[in-house]
This record gives sequence, structure tokens and C-alpha cells, in this order.
Amino acid sequence: MENILEIKDLCKTYIVNKNQNNVLKNLNLLIQEGEMVAVMGPSGSGKSTLLYTASGMENLTAGEVIFGGRDISNVKPNELADIRLDEMGFIFQQMYMLKNLTVLDNVILPASQSKKSKESRKEITARGLDLMRKLGIVEIANNDINEVSGGQLQRACICRSLINRPKMIFADEPTGALNRNSSEEVMNELRKINEEGTAIMLVTHDVRVAAKCSRVLYIVDGNIKGEYNLDNYTDNAKEIRQREITLNKWLIDMGW
Ligand SMILES: Nc1ncnc2c1ncn2[C@@H]1O[C@H](COP(=O)(O)OP(=O)(O)OP(=O)(O)O)[C@@H](O)[C@H]1O
Ligand SMILES: [Mg+2]
Repeated sequence: MENILEIKDLCKTYIVNKNQNNVLKNLNLLIQEGEMVAVMGPSGSGKSTLLYTASGMENLTAGEVIFGGRDISNVKPNELADIRLDEMGFIFQQMYMLKNLTVLDNVILPASQSKKSKESRKEITARGLDLMRKLGIVEIANNDINEVSGGQLQRACICRSLINRPKMIFADEPTGALNRNSSEEVMNELRKINEEGTAIMLVTHDVRVAAKCSRVLYIVDGNIKGEYNLDNYTDNAKEIRQREITLNKWLIDMGW
């Protein structure tokens, strides 16, 4: 397997009111194609910052981020914008959908913005509807954004993140606002997407969510304190429970 993401000596410093906050400190990380990696750790430890800098949404202070073999810390802004649009998918809670568009129009927006896509509007629409059907929300395609539930909106965000067939999805607490059932459904969808070959890096505070991943990173104070590899996932309820228990034990050892 090739590496999809290589992070080398990543540092990120924020300066607020002349105070320097070294949020990420020489962080190193490799993610292979097809991996599903959960990022956990205390509040303020730098999880979201890691996701934003790894995906080119935030500049780095020092270090390198190589995505799909290209150093995205050193490309021109418009080139980076194209890589992000065509090769990465994003599920961020704070990235709201556009209110004056329907759910479907929001889902297909990244495809109509892509310069690489040679599809007609009709083809893009059909693919958007297909994704919505797969995620069980096709019936709300023509609803306004404010006419859907939180779980439906989150699934619409997943559809939108997939519309340009990304190599990797970056998700910041994708189930954070959902109840247990919706969270489980969203995670099962993300697992399917991952099994079809898309790498996923997601930040979560939920052991159940992390237990569905193939690897868990524990971040403390801007660095990776520990990593936990999980066995191949099965649908067996007993095995899932065991997985959650062993992961939980490890997290407690990490200081969770
Ligand atoms: N845009 C910003 N400007 C200045 N400081 C920031 C910015 N974003 C984050 N920080 C600071 O960086 C540190 C890490 O924040 P980050 O959002 O990465 O934490 P987190 O691990 O995602 O926490 P949480 O679990 O609460 O979401 C915090 O001290 C935060 O105040
Ligand atoms: Mg965060």
C-alpha cells in the first residue's frame, strides 16, 4: 500500500494578542491508502488543527504535508484549491451548507466547481441523487437545508464530500451532533466508503466511533502520544463490544 498522507515534523503556531501558542509540535504521521484513522485526545490538544493543516485548509508554521505524493505545503494557492476540490472530501460540522440551495444542489456543488470534471449537469445530478439514495436521504433531495434533520444533514454532508470521488476524507466530529442511532448509521456509511477504497481521517470523542476505525491516534499537547491498531472490523455484535472495551482500556491508559 502507498502512503496517501505523509506528515513530517509538522508545527503549527497561532499568535493571539502577541501570545504564541505552539499547537502542533513536530508531529509525524503516515496514513496509507485505504486506512480509516481516528484522532482522539483531550479538548484543545490540537486534533482539529491537525485535520485542518493536513488537508491544506490552514497554513503550516513548519514541516511538510505530502498528499498523494505531492508536497501540498509548497503548491500555489489555486493548485491547492484544485487538489482539495478534486481529491479530498470534507465533513466539518461548522461547514454549513448554502441556505439558498436545495440539499441536492449543495451535494453536487463541488462537482460543478471542479475544472477536472467533464460530466454534464445531468450526469452530475444523476450521480448526486445516486449518492443520496445510497445514504437513504434521496427523498429530501429537493428540500431546503432548513427543512431536514441533523442526521439527514450530516448524511448530505457525506454525499457532498464524496461527489468528486476523493482519495481521502477528512472529518471533524462527523457524529458529534447526532444521537446514538444516527451516529451508528453515519459510521456504517463511512465504513462502507472506506471499504470501497477511500482513506478516512476523523476526529472523535466517541469510543464507539473510534472502535469502527482501523487505527486510533491519541493526541496530547500537540503531539501523538500513542497509537492503537484495531483488528479487521466485523459485524458481529459481541466482537464489536469487545473491540470497544479493549480500546476503552487503552484510552484510559493514555489518560483519557
Ligand atoms: N484559528 C485559531 N486561532 C488561534 N488559536 C486557535 C485557532 N484554532 C485553534 N486554536 C487554538 O489551538 C489549540 C488547539 O485547538 P484545536 O481546535 O485544534 O483543539 P481540539 O483538539 O480540536 O479540541 P476540541 O476537542 O475541543 O475540538 C487551542 O488552544 C485553540 O485555542
Ligand atoms: Mg476540535
